Amino acid sequence: MSASHLLSVADLGAAGIEEIMRMSDSFVEVSERAIPRVPALRGKTVVSLFYEESTRTRLSFETAARRLSADTMNFSVSTSSVKKGESLRDTVTTIEAMGIDALVVRHASAGVPWQVASWIGASVINAGDGWHEHPTQALLDCYTIRQARGSLDGMRIAIVGDVKHSRVARSDVLAFSLLGADVTLVAPPTLLPPSLAGWPVAVSHDLDEVLPKLDVVYLLRMQRERQTEALLPSLREYTATYGLTRGRARLLPDDAIVMHPGPMNRGVEIAAEVADLPRAVISQQVRNGVAVRMAVLFLLIGASPREAGGG
Ligand code: NCD
Repeated sequence: MSASHLLSVADLGAAGIEEIMRMSDSFVEVSERAIPRVPALRGKTVVSLFYEESTRTRLSFETAARRLSADTMNFSVSTSSVKKGESLRDTVTTIEAMGIDALVVRHASAGVPWQVASWIGASVINAGDGWHEHPTQALLDCYTIRQARGSLDGMRIAIVGDVKHSRVARSDVLAFSLLGADVTLVAPPTLLPPSLAGWPVAVSHDLDEVLPKLDVVYLLRMQRERQTEALLPSLREYTATYGLTRGRARLLPDDAIVMHPGPMNRGVEIAAEVADLPRAVISQQVRNGVAVRMAVLFLLIGASPREAGGG
C-alpha cells in the first residue's frame, strides 16, 4: 500500500487488497499467541473519532492498535453535536496538534474522511462515511471468504437486502469484483440505489432462485435509521420474501457460507438459528477484522516490515 490514507477500496486496487490479505495472515498468527502483541507500532498514536455509533468497528481498531503496541485515544462524539465543517475542522486539527499518527474516522456524511485527510498530515482511515464506503469491512470480508473458500476468483456472491443505504455493500461490490468474484444484488427495487450504472453486478428480485447457485450469501442489516420514507410494506413481508430463513438456507450448496457485517437483526434479514449454523462465518468476520486492521495500520504507519513479526 503506497498511499498514506485508506479512504476507499478503489484506491487499493486488486494488488493493494492482496497485499493487505497477505499481511493479515501474519497478524492472524500474532492474534493466536498467548500474548497477542508485537512492538511494531510502539511510540505511535492511533485515535478513533466516531461521529456515529459503533460497537465492532471501533473496538476492532482499538484492539488492532493495542496488539501492535500503539497508544490509543478514543473520542466518542455524540451524533447530535458537531455538524458544521468548521467545527469538524477545529476538532480534527486540535487532535492532530497532540501529535498523532493515524486517525480512524466514522461520520454520517459521505466524503468526510477525504476532507479530514486534506486538513491533516496524519494517516486517515475511513471507518464508514454515510452510505458511501467502509473499506476495512470489505477487506475483512475478502479475507474471510479467502479463508473459507481459498480465493474470491470465480466465487458467486449474492449481497442481499438494504443495498441502497449500505456503505458495506458499496465497498464489498468494489472489492469482490476487483478480486474476480461474480456479484449479484438481491433486493426489492425500493432498497436498491436509483441507478446502478457502473456497478459491476447483476440484479435479482428472487432469492430462492439465486441461493442454489451461490458460494457466498451476504445479508445486509435493514438500516431503518437511514430510511426516511416507507420503502417496504412491512418487515414481516420483507422477511418472508428476502429473509434468510431456515428453509431458505437449505437451498444453499453444501459448501456455501453465510455472512453478515453485524449488527444483526435476528428474525428480520437472517433467522436466529441460521446465524448460528456452522456455515455462518459471522464470528470469523469479527475475528479477522482485528488482524486485517492490524495489517492496515502497520502498512500505513509502521516502519520496516521486518519489525512486524518480532516480539
Ligand atoms: C456496518 C456499518 O456500520 O456500516 N457495521 C459494521 O461496521 N460492521 C453495517 C451496519 O450498520 O449495518
